[in-house]
Amino acid sequence: MCGIVGYIGTQAATEILLAGLEKLEYRGYDSAGIATVWEGEVNCVRAKGKLHNLRSKLEQLENPAQIGIGHTRWATHGKPEEYNAHPHLDTAMRVAVVQNGIIENYRELREELKQKGHEFRSETDTEVIPHLIAEFLKNLPASSSSSPFLDAVRQAVNYLKGAFAIAVICADYPDELIVVRQQAPLVIGFGQGEFFCASDTPAIVAYTRAVLPLENGEIARLTPLGVEIYNFAGDRLKKQPRMLNLSPTMVEKQGFKHFMLKEIYEQPGVVRASLEAYFTNIEESSESPINLGLPREFYADLAQIQIVACGTSWHAALVGKYLLEQLAGISTQVHYASEYRYAPSPLTPNTLIIGVTQSGETADTLAALAMEKERRQGQEPQYQARLLGITNRPESSLGLMVPHIINTLAGIEIGVAATKTFIAQLMAFYALALDLAAHRQTVPLEKLVEIINGLRQIPKEIEATLEAQESLTEHLAHDFAETKDFIFLGRGINFPIALEGALKLKEISYIHAEGYPAGEMKHGPIALLDAKVPVVAIAIPGSVYEKVISNAQEAKARDSRLIGVTPVNDGEAAEIFNDLLPVSSVDELLSPILTVVPLQLLAYHIAARRGLDVDQPRNLAKSVTVE
Ligand code: G6P
Repeated sequence: MCGIVGYIGTQAATEILLAGLEKLEYRGYDSAGIATVWEGEVNCVRAKGKLHNLRSKLEQLENPAQIGIGHTRWATHGKPEEYNAHPHLDTAMRVAVVQNGIIENYRELREELKQKGHEFRSETDTEVIPHLIAEFLKNLPASSSSSPFLDAVRQAVNYLKGAFAIAVICADYPDELIVVRQQAPLVIGFGQGEFFCASDTPAIVAYTRAVLPLENGEIARLTPLGVEIYNFAGDRLKKQPRMLNLSPTMVEKQGFKHFMLKEIYEQPGVVRASLEAYFTNIEESSESPINLGLPREFYADLAQIQIVACGTSWHAALVGKYLLEQLAGISTQVHYASEYRYAPSPLTPNTLIIGVTQSGETADTLAALAMEKERRQGQEPQYQARLLGITNRPESSLGLMVPHIINTLAGIEIGVAATKTFIAQLMAFYALALDLAAHRQTVPLEKLVEIINGLRQIPKEIEATLEAQESLTEHLAHDFAETKDFIFLGRGINFPIALEGALKLKEISYIHAEGYPAGEMKHGPIALLDAKVPVVAIAIPGSVYEKVISNAQEAKARDSRLIGVTPVNDGEAAEIFNDLLPVSSVDELLSPILTVVPLQLLAYHIAARRGLDVDQPRNLAKSVTVE
């Protein structure tokens, strides 16, 4: 988390850096800062809180500098105070650094540097970097290289342990911006006589679409004349930028009050795009009507699937488990990546390992996959890693790590709470499970066709749900704006949707909410229920409908106000539930793509009514690049 940007060129850097940071605020927003080099000095301005605080400070200053770096922070080491905000400087204030990541050996380095006379001003791990660079600059023999600054940064990063991306400027080298990537994302943008760097592409897409994502262990030297890339040993590497398929308008609100609401409304389009990309015309297909571009050997003798993910992606994976087991008949386990990396399941043969991460940058998910890859290396062929990534950012670190990707087609998501990327992940799991079912012949072709035809109806059902529910959820939000606790119930394929509904509410409205499998309620959570605790139950006709209705009755008997996410014309439901968030009658198997929508809207409207910052909820970050 944390976002970094950098600029070198012919325009005033400050506004470009601020505009870039605005697009990266989703990565952290507890403080921000900018450093530039002008008239032989580093100018550094930092402010606690959201970016507008920094902007107002900068408005009072005239600064024509054409080189600079910026940072938006999600605190890891040290409180979110101005003195801990980046950029950090060395003692003489000649070197300025912004960092995204964690320097694990900062304590030892700090002690060593203190003994050499360096004065520290913050509690952060990052501050060791400018001091270390200054130390190397001081000790470099004169005329030792064509770029002493680059050399000093290179030597310094060889001492750093951890996962990080940094951008560095120095008052003595006003025409050089040095950037480094080591297991935290960093992309370079190529303009005409101007160059950019950022943690993520939305920060630079307004200026250029020619980008080069750095790889781990690479250092780039940006000057007004061009970009040179090196490895940590100092060898020059040949690399070319590529064109990005992302327009600046895709990262605007387009009339919606919040990005989250816009992204909820984009969901029918996401489902349509996924249908078009993953499913071929049934008549044309031979073995399988699904096209994910995965090689045949990937599926051969498949015995088991292990999925690692975090947060909302973990919920999508739980729906995936249901589909993979029920449709393709493959035993599937879903793990929190942060747990799996330290306590993996015993090695099993013929196992597909799937990492699900919308950002492709979640540190725990990447580490769990790296661990799995490593422990399978050198094993018998049947134990070798078959790795698959499901991500919305194929150009991410995940994309570099795994050989096969299912690209989810949500487009860029800015709201910190995931909505359309969740639906896109569900679509990827439907395609994967159906493809496996086709290859393994666990579902007859006619049934497959029926399911795919059902999926094709979903976009218009989401549209109808959105139209019907906007005012209903707004109305409910009015009643529940002050509620302290919520329970969400679902069963079977809709249990993960109960979890997701509760997570959305927690994340953006700060209301305590729990998602439970409806049948488990009586084993504990029922003790929480009374008239002050509303219960949202997802009740879709199918295998567990009556069971969910009975569980809902149990809640009602304890005075809870009952809200039903259930089909429009269901008489029984209308009698039991106090409030309805009606959805169309769809096949239970497909229902999660629909039932999640009213829960997203409910969370959105409650948070909006509480006057909260829906797109940037407190303490969260969209992309969690630390353990
Ligand atoms: C953060 C975000 C969540 C997200 C999770 C996993 O916690 O706030 O919205 O679900 O990371 O992110 P990923 O990019 O791996 O899907």
